[in-house]
Amino acid sequence: MFVFAISIIVFAQLGCISAKAITSSRQVTSDVHLAVSPNCGSLSGPPADINNGLKPLSNYSTIVAFGDSYTSGSIFNGSALPPPVLSPPNPNAGGRITNGPLWVENLAAAANATLQDWAVNGSVIDHNMYPSINFGDIPDYLTQVQNYIGVRPSSVVDDTLYVIFMGMGDYELRNEIYQGPQSLTTLASDLIYSILELNSNPVFAKNFLIVDNYGRGTESTAGDAYKESLFNQLYEVSNNLDYDLSFAFVDFKTIWDGVLNGSPGYEAFGYTDAGACLSNDNSMNAECDDPDHTFYWIPGNPSAATHSIMADYVQEVLAQCGS
Ligand SMILES: *[C@@H]1O[C@H](CO)[C@@H](O)[C@H](O)[C@H]1NC(C)=O
Ligand SMILES: *[C@@H]1O[C@H](CO)[C@@H](O)[C@H](O)[C@H]1NC(C)=O
Ligand SMILES: *[C@@H]1O[C@H](CO)[C@@H](O)[C@H](O)[C@H]1NC(C)=O
Ligand SMILES: *[C@@H]1O[C@H](CO)[C@@H](O)[C@H](O)[C@H]1NC(C)=O
Repeated sequence: MFVFAISIIVFAQLGCISAKAITSSRQVTSDVHLAVSPNCGSLSGPPADINNGLKPLSNYSTIVAFGDSYTSGSIFNGSALPPPVLSPPNPNAGGRITNGPLWVENLAAAANATLQDWAVNGSVIDHNMYPSINFGDIPDYLTQVQNYIGVRPSSVVDDTLYVIFMGMGDYELRNEIYQGPQSLTTLASDLIYSILELNSNPVFAKNFLIVDNYGRGTESTAGDAYKESLFNQLYEVSNNLDYDLSFAFVDFKTIWDGVLNGSPGYEAFGYTDAGACLSNDNSMNAECDDPDHTFYWIPGNPSAATHSIMADYVQEVLAQCGS
């Protein structure tokens, strides 16, 4: 009995100590935050962050998003997404390939805008460029856009921001592209064509946010040629008086290089780990200790903490990189 009482006291004290230790370790580990600034440039120069005429974010009441797993909330018809919450052991928060809200949801929240999400996990720009791959029932980006044009949920076009974040899947599959990786520039032209199509009857879209992160911290001649082609064609469109549109170009390379390639390194962002919290997207059984300070959720796909600073970065580009 006596021994029992003692052990309860000791246990209570230990509990108290460990609670304090947890509190103080949370205080010393700062939350994840941006440790890089936008790389603002000029449309006539090499690819860089640009705001070519987009209004302040709060002026948009609707955000229409096209993209891949980074931007997909698992429903791809513009309807409201499921809540971004985990229900273990399922590692996909409401069908997202991450553990919380997506970057574009954070952006919509910052704008106080309604999100209409058409992005699809596993999407590439144009299936026709991959004769040897069967993509099953995953629509490509061009189909996302056609589906949107077909339904075209009502919104005032001046108050709508169109988000396009593609390229990572195409870069990953570049060796499967008809005629090889140099044909990535054809895909850049497809993407520009879709912007001009959205800008035309019947949608008349005016405001575009084009996002790139093709190599996720790696780069190559073929990948850079894709990005340069995209950027140079945006410059040409901006000089063509036939088209009335505003756009921003955001290159997440600055974040990915900053975290993964040593300058300033992942610790400066408040991460404790530059890797992934889960080794795959099958289950949460081997979840890491510190998911709130880990760069990726599964390999190659950002954690919710990273999605949060991605939205911050976009806001900094819009505010700082005007021309
Ligand atoms: C943004 O919205 C505010 C408030 O509605 C308005 O006064 C302002 O003119 C708008 N700015 C632009 C650039 O359209
Ligand atoms: C959108 O897709 C979801 C899931 O497939 C479905 O439940 C919903 O009815 C669809 N909404 C529209 C407007 O088609
Ligand atoms: C956000 O929008 C809603 C309705 O569209 C409005 O009631 C609310 O005041 C807005 N909040 C902010 C912070 O602008
Ligand atoms: C996302 O796509 C990948 C590869 O295409 C697939 O393995 C995975 O199961 C998909 N996840 C969800 C939640 O759809």
